[in-house]
Amino acid sequence: MQTTYVMVKPDGVQRGLVGEIINRFERKGLRLVGLKSIIPSMELVEQHYAVHKERPFYSGLVEFVTSGPVVAMAWKGVDAISVCRNIIGATNGREADMGSIRGDFGMDIGYNLIHGSDGEETAAFELGLWFPEGLNEWTPVRETWVYE
Ligand code: RTP
Ligand code: MG
Repeated sequence: MQTTYVMVKPDGVQRGLVGEIINRFERKGLRLVGLKSIIPSMELVEQHYAVHKERPFYSGLVEFVTSGPVVAMAWKGVDAISVCRNIIGATNGREADMGSIRGDFGMDIGYNLIHGSDGEETAAFELGLWFPEGLNEWTPVRETWVYE
């Protein structure tokens, strides 16, 4: 079991895609263990994207992600990190596979609607950063019909 950090970025919220996006993770069989709407501080987003600090798009990215509410989520499941990355699709919406969130709704590389942790270490770091209060563990009754 893995838990991963997924975030609807401000463009996804502005475009009214929050319900559509949550629906895709939920229907897949992932378990929602954290969810909140937040206007993140500059400090929070700078830490979140610290790995990209030297990249030319960094300051624009931080400005974009702090520009309005985001929806922070934690999803749990077997191989949840890669499963969520597949649901999200490639970084550039124009190149992302149809059927993925970015492929179905995105036309841009910066405005790409959603973020998902890219590995176990990143997931642990990002979950601690965005959910310092902790997550809500629970056992869905449907679980016995999700995994054999
Ligand atoms: P994310 O971290 O947001 O889930 O996206 P990702 O792994 O697919 O992409 P990553 O390489 O980690 O880049 C982080 C975010 O920076 C923006 N970006 N802009 N203008 C550009 O060339 C450029 N490249 C990346 C995107 O919003 C990307 O999601
Ligand atoms: Mg990334």
